[in-house]
Amino acid sequence: TRRITVRDIALAKERGEKWPMLTAYDAMTASVFDEAGIPVMLVGDSAGNCHLGYESTVPVTLDEMTMLSAAVVRGTSRALIVGDLPFGSYQEGPVQALRSATRLVKEAGVGAVKLEGGERSHRQIELLVESGIPVMAHIGLTPQSVNAMGYRVQGRGEEAAQQLLRDAKAVQDAGAFAVVLELVPAELAAEVTRTLHIPTVGIGAGAETDAQVLVWTDMLGLTGGRVPKFVKQYADLRAVMGDAAKAFAEDVVGGTFPLEEHSVH
Ligand code: KIV
Ligand code: NA
Repeated sequence: TRRITVRDIALAKERGEKWPMLTAYDAMTASVFDEAGIPVMLVGDSAGNCHLGYESTVPVTLDEMTMLSAAVVRGTSRALIVGDLPFGSYQEGPVQALRSATRLVKEAGVGAVKLEGGERSHRQIELLVESGIPVMAHIGLTPQSVNAMGYRVQGRGEEAAQQLLRDAKAVQDAGAFAVVLELVPAELAAEVTRTLHIPTVGIGAGAETDAQVLVWTDMLGLTGGRVPKFVKQYADLRAVMGDAAKAFAEDVVGGTFPLEEHSVH
């Protein structure tokens, strides 16, 4: 079997097929999703919050993204792996973006990279695509800008909606193969999806986008505390793992693990 490519993704839009994307940050989790048939996995800088214990995505480094992306590539054989460019690794300009993306492609083996920003990132996208690196763009709420924009719904109101449409067209014109729409009104996400010929990947963007992405720890109920309204929890891994850890602890304290069957002589 060969890996899914960005050409397959383009074909899916032509055929009107919707597709799922999940984040992954380690080889084992990624292998589960690969075997489950998830066609595209994002090594998101959400790893900052969901894997590395940071407060936001802002502190995540390119070294960290390279290491996590390499693990996810090693754990999979079929999915297209998209590596997120972290904050500070592409904002200086196209040459810095190319240098950073090249590390994810050469050292980690990703098939594509993702970066945040519409019009403001179009030169970066252009150079990467010219250089042979497929780019997934990301507009609407862009968490790397949390210090400037907070975590608020984007594209509300006529002016903001027009800007989002301009951003969407800018990344398409720059050559992006897909664009994430994060936390934008469903009606606006639907309009962007109808307007573009590249697929839109929604998160908190309603039902009309071509694809849907969720952060895996949110989707499987591993994230502690409050999860956003747009998340559907398909499992309660936090409870499963917590109960298992408690049972193990009780067994050890009570002397009921290990048993004869777990012992060697
Ligand atoms: O880092 C991430 O997980 C993301 C997705 C939410 C799109 O950027
Ligand atoms: Na991200």
